[in-house]
Amino acid sequence: GGTLGSAAARTGRYFGTAVSASKLSDSVYTGILSREFSMITAENEMKIDATEPSQNQFSYANADRIVNQATSQGARLRGHTLAWHQQQPGWMQGMEGTALRQAMLNHVTQVATHYRGKIYAWDVVNEAFEDGGSGARRNSNLQRTGNDWIEAAFTAARAADPGAKLCYNDYNTDDWTHAKTQAVYRMVQDFKARGVPIDCVGFQSHFNPNSPVPSNYQTTLQNFANLGVDVQITELDIEGSGTAQANNFRTVTSACLAVSRCTGITVWGIRDTDSWRASGTPLLFDGNGQKKAAYTATLEALNGD
Ligand code: G3I
Repeated sequence: GGTLGSAAARTGRYFGTAVSASKLSDSVYTGILSREFSMITAENEMKIDATEPSQNQFSYANADRIVNQATSQGARLRGHTLAWHQQQPGWMQGMEGTALRQAMLNHVTQVATHYRGKIYAWDVVNEAFEDGGSGARRNSNLQRTGNDWIEAAFTAARAADPGAKLCYNDYNTDDWTHAKTQAVYRMVQDFKARGVPIDCVGFQSHFNPNSPVPSNYQTTLQNFANLGVDVQITELDIEGSGTAQANNFRTVTSACLAVSRCTGITVWGIRDTDSWRASGTPLLFDGNGQKKAAYTATLEALNGD
């Protein structure tokens, strides 16, 4: 394949990117988007603060612009995200207990119902585990509603959109020996054992010198896949430049291709200047929209070259 999407399709996979609705009027941006990418994640527009700015009043205009872009270019959509401790609207931030649990479940049900049949995979729950060595759940208002909040969210999402794959998504879960990785693994193992509906695990894969691509990355993907879930690389970016960065993108791409249940890769933005990182050059295209060495290495890896 001559593009990321067509090269990924060679092995039945997708290649996606995060998209910002505010950039859909930039023709350089949309030119690369429609040429290269077969999966789209809304960078912010499907989050809780965007879709339910006032309680029980839903707002889909910006998200729908991204849905329409996906339709027009024949790309699929990852839904991001139904339940998260961040980017909660003000009304939700102050809530606790039963009221919050009900509000969260209502949000999951309403948004998943709105997009029923249009989403390939939902990040149902995002970033629910603590960093560091504890392996504990992150202390958040959602966690304080009871340890079963995650499975309750998955059950509600399945009921609302039975055709979508339901994912748990997190970062710093790439190194197999990391306590956070082990904790997420045990949760997924427990969900599968008890029949809680979960289909996939998303590995955000935000890499930088302090958090490099671990040597056991492929092992991690394979071990999760062995639990009977798909795995997806959901928010890939890698700080760096030149050959070193290119080699890291090659390593990550090859790891996904080596795991049969790794169904696709999404990068978190198109050009370096589109990145959420204030500085740095972590993506596949430079600020002018030109292909970087990291692009070529990724394309070669997708093509098996
Ligand atoms: O749109 C407003 C703009 O009107 C305002 O003037 C400006 C002033 O700060 O803020 C703009 O909103 C910002 C928004 O991005 C759009 O640019 C928010 O402040 C900012 O917080 C928000 O950041 C997003 C971040 O999630 C929030 O948690 C990033 O774009 C987005 O890339 C990032 O994505 C997350 C994933 O969802 C989960 N995993 C980590 C990843 C990177 O942090």
